Amino acid sequence: MRVHVADHPLITHKLSVLRDQRTSSPVFRQLTEELVTLLAYEATRNVKVSPIEITTPVTTTMGVKISEPRPIVVPILRAGLGMLEGLVKLLPTAEVGFLGMVRDEETFEPTTYAERLPDDLSDRQCFAIDPMLATGGSLAAAIQFLFNRGAKDVTAICLLGTPEGVAAIEAMAGDRDVTLVLGALDERLNEKGYIVPGLGDAGDRLYGTV
Ligand code: PRP
Ligand code: URA
Repeated sequence: MRVHVADHPLITHKLSVLRDQRTSSPVFRQLTEELVTLLAYEATRNVKVSPIEITTPVTTTMGVKISEPRPIVVPILRAGLGMLEGLVKLLPTAEVGFLGMVRDEETFEPTTYAERLPDDLSDRQCFAIDPMLATGGSLAAAIQFLFNRGAKDVTAICLLGTPEGVAAIEAMAGDRDVTLVLGALDERLNEKGYIVPGLGDAGDRLYGTV
């Protein structure tokens, strides 16, 4: 598994505002979108492209286009939805599938409550998006789900992760093709399974408490 932790002052600046408990939901949503666009630069580094011939106003030359089958972006509901716009702006030809997952706040076990994805993901490059990698249970289950459907490789983009979460994804990935791109690697999990220092409950901060 490849792990990339961002190291860029713009990303750290935007994450600092996101972490601040005084940041309102509209600003939080805007920053989440901007952050995923910045992280997508690294996350899409290995997106498959095919050569094409193009004609400029001056001459004919070779370029590339994103290969078929098109990549698929999978936001993990609910909080992952906040990252969708930022990624599809950069990958406008991608398809979008949805996975609804919620973790039990006592046991931290994730449950899948919704799924809208192609039955066959053979040869598809998948981009799973979820702002928070805490115990790793939710993302590990999501990645396993995509591989069970035949995904070729999975790149996950999270705004914040923990060492525990990264280890959980490493353990589930084994020798499969998984890339993890993080905005920051935080210190640890607390006893409530929250990321420390973290930013609190990402879904609540994006959409309010439900
Ligand atoms: C949050 C977050 C991740 C998960 C991370 O979702 O968006 O999906 O928790 O925790 P884990 O790494 O320990 O599994 P939550 O279950 O709160 O649902 P929500 O997106 O609907 O708020
Ligand atoms: N889910 C969140 O939204 N925040 C955390 O810190 C952990 C899990």
